[in-house]
Amino acid sequence: MKSGVKIFLAVALIAGGAGVSAHVAMAHGGAKGIVKERMDAMGDLAKTMKQVGGMLRGKVPYDPTEIAQAAERLKQHGGSEMTKLFPDGSLEAPSEAKPEIWANWQKFEAFANDLSEKAGALKAASMDQSAVPAAFGAVGKTCKACHEEFRLKKD
Ligand code: HEC
Repeated sequence: MKSGVKIFLAVALIAGGAGVSAHVAMAHGGAKGIVKERMDAMGDLAKTMKQVGGMLRGKVPYDPTEIAQAAERLKQHGGSEMTKLFPDGSLEAPSEAKPEIWANWQKFEAFANDLSEKAGALKAASMDQSAVPAAFGAVGKTCKACHEEFRLKKD
């Protein structure tokens, strides 16, 4: 019961917080170069989050190995792999990045590092099913925190 509630919260957080499903469905035509690259990377993050979320909701069979792999994938996208996709002032349409990114670079970098850190914790938790929902929720929070601050509001 208790973990059921947690799972629900984690999934609700991802679905609402990261703007996953609706947003990815209308993927950005017309994006080019680095903007397209980072949108693709973000899209892969969203897809990976959905995959894990689906397992926590019982929509697809629960598989700790797949969760560990998904967590590794999320981890790889974070840190400098993410920040290198945001060269100074890269705001070409249809980017939804905010110029504040470059005025607050350290904070932006901290969110990107936090994603890798929380994804690493999810990977570490993957063999303990009772610990996965909270660890997954923590990853989702890093998406939401960065989006709230540095992505134009579309959600
Ligand atoms: C360090 C900050 C940061 C983190 C962490 C982050 N994002 Fe993003 N995300 C952004 C920014 C900025 C944009 C807008 C990029 C643009 O439009 O140029 C974005 C855009 C997106 C998009 C829209 C892509 C598109 O095609 O327009 C999705 C989906 C997304 N993020 C999902 C996620 C998910 C899921 C996570 C967590 C697993 C995550 N993001 C973590 C900053 C972040």
